Amino acid sequence: MSAFEYRDGILHAESVPLGDIAAQVGTPCYVYSRTALESAYRAFEAALAGREHLICYAMKANANLAVLDLFARLGAGFDIVSGGELARARAAGGRAERIVFSGVGKSETEIRTALASGILCFNVESAAELARIGRIAAAMGRRAPISLRVNPDVDPHTHPYISTGLKENKFGVPYGEALALCRQAAASASLQVAGLGFHIGSQLVEVAPFADALDRLLALADTLDREGIGLRHVDIGGGLGIRYREERPPAIADYLAAMLARLDGRPYRLLLEPGRALVGNAGLLLTRIEYLKPGTPHSFAIVDAAMNDLMRPSLYDAWHDILPVAHRPAPARRYEIVGPVCETGDFLGHDRELAVAQGDLLAVMSAGAYAMSMSSNYNSRPRAAEVMVDGANAHIVRARESVESLFALERRLPVG
Ligand code: LLP
Repeated sequence: MSAFEYRDGILHAESVPLGDIAAQVGTPCYVYSRTALESAYRAFEAALAGREHLICYAMKANANLAVLDLFARLGAGFDIVSGGELARARAAGGRAERIVFSGVGKSETEIRTALASGILCFNVESAAELARIGRIAAAMGRRAPISLRVNPDVDPHTHPYISTGLKENKFGVPYGEALALCRQAAASASLQVAGLGFHIGSQLVEVAPFADALDRLLALADTLDREGIGLRHVDIGGGLGIRYREERPPAIADYLAAMLARLDGRPYRLLLEPGRALVGNAGLLLTRIEYLKPGTPHSFAIVDAAMNDLMRPSLYDAWHDILPVAHRPAPARRYEIVGPVCETGDFLGHDRELAVAQGDLLAVMSAGAYAMSMSSNYNSRPRAAEVMVDGANAHIVRARESVESLFALERRLPVG
């Protein structure tokens, strides 16, 4: 069963008609399927059976506590990129010893807090960061577990904004410098070399770039091994793509089979940091048509969701399917699907053929990843509510923001 399906002409989330959710919580509103989240996670687990591993969900994709709690209960760890994400992961029941800390700009405070809480390791992205972590650990009388994030310089063939493993990108330690840094870390009393890793980009739809990156990483691991610097783990990052439109990403099992084949006979624990592949197709954004504005050259369907709710179309020209919640008899027309925000770039889809009327509900599909988590309050728009459907039950997992909360931290100057 797919998580989102038409039943008698009405789009459902599991067993709940989307119209019921709109009536209960209003629009715009994110709707997630617990079954879809869980089955994506289990697909990773099944493919990894027999290999020591840890799935560290890249929580930047969708950090709602209900989502994190679900994955934590299934045994997941988390890939975090800020002190805020550390606090969120812990609040959702995430265990510190299953957390890896990525990102190029970790602050002193973030490093101290993460070290004190006992995370699994820091994914180190530069020599300067390694030095900072060493200094802080020494001052705290601790040994900081580190894993270098190596930039393997492979082309992931994805959108330039989300490609991270080319040498011109800001991410990771240059391949040619990784060995020297590992040796330096191994010689430090305040650092513990736990592993090596990479993350080469997001929405990858081929196995080859992952395989190349892992081959290059394992060559480094072999050299370190010969020098007596044995690694505990290798981290293959995230990046597996999903189907938004016509993409044909590898199946989770096929992608992982290629990784496991390369690790065969090597002792490392396998760490992964999937984000999108776990949550992307487990969510949609539910929105209502406020107005239809027919015209030439474009007819517009103006909906109550906007670029502040779902930024991916505006930012990356990303495609999301847009489906009517209830089928109407034709005639269909081609519409620009746009929001109320005062920007020409505020669109959710171009040139979509739909048979719709004012007041109809639309579902913007594949909106479980990098959707709510990238939303903003632009135009003083409260963030959307979030709902998780579990069978026949719809649970509000984040209430719609109030307008008052948007300016609650602001103060006017004193009079005079
Ligand atoms: N690990 C690291 C270090 C990352 O930077 C990321 C994503 C992931 C794991 C998870 O990658 P995934 O499995 O989700 O591809 N906002 C963009 C995507 C940015 C991805 C950033 N890093 C989008 O909406 O497409």
